[in-house]
Amino acid sequence: MEINRETGRSSPIGVFDSGVGGLTVVREIMRQIPNEKIIYFGDTARVPYGSKSKETVTRYSEQIVRFLRTFSVKTIVVACNTASACALDTLEKDIDIPIIDVVKPGAKNAAEVTRNGRIGVIATEATIASQIYTEYIKQLNRNVTIYGKACPLFVPLVEEGLLEDPVTDEIARRYLSELIDIDIDTLILGCTHYPLIRSTLGRIAGENVTLVNPAYETALELKRRLESLDLLNDDPPALGANQYRFFVSDKAEKFVRFANSIIKYGILSAKAVNIEEY
Ligand code: DGL
Repeated sequence: MEINRETGRSSPIGVFDSGVGGLTVVREIMRQIPNEKIIYFGDTARVPYGSKSKETVTRYSEQIVRFLRTFSVKTIVVACNTASACALDTLEKDIDIPIIDVVKPGAKNAAEVTRNGRIGVIATEATIASQIYTEYIKQLNRNVTIYGKACPLFVPLVEEGLLEDPVTDEIARRYLSELIDIDIDTLILGCTHYPLIRSTLGRIAGENVTLVNPAYETALELKRRLESLDLLNDDPPALGANQYRFFVSDKAEKFVRFANSIIKYGILSAKAVNIEEY
């Protein structure tokens, strides 16, 4: 596969996730740096990543990075906690463009906002098993305790669009009860799918718990990194010039319907690609 390495300010940003979750990060990037072009890839054929091994998630992530690089992206945002936890080290090893992950920005924010030092993290099984949030938060503040809880049913519920639904409510109650019992005051939404059920999670966690959505902090970090490298796009892309392009590995129409329900920008199409070829 040909990789075009010529990049500059007007080159697009590559963003990927296992499915629709990364759109919560895309939404923030669109808000905070509206001049940027985005190439999004959602691995809808192979979602969920959270129940798969580190080796498998790393292989998938490497394929996606190779695909995104065919568009001469100037940076890559790993808009998936599971891929950040499992594959970031490998991806960073041999790449000459910046890579932004979603875990560090969320960990930093949680370490700053907790008052009682009890932080809950909800995420996929793979992210919780990696202990990555504990590792990063402890580097910033040794005096906090981090309680992780894997919530494997949330991703399929979100992918099915059950964002406000009694079933989601019931599952959330079960998953969050032990974190509420140990009196956490901060809850990291450690999977990019979870901000889509934020109102359910907030209602069940209660008003004394601050929810941390790493998407906002990730977009901010991306903006800072591009600024410091003089890579922010300063000329607004011409209307209709393919500013945002979406690719998936399966079920493109379902993805477009979902994406349009959460992103204000009208997404007309997504293209299905055979990611195994990369
Ligand atoms: N949205 C992803 C994350 O942030 C992955 C969910 C999954 O595929 O299991 O972890």
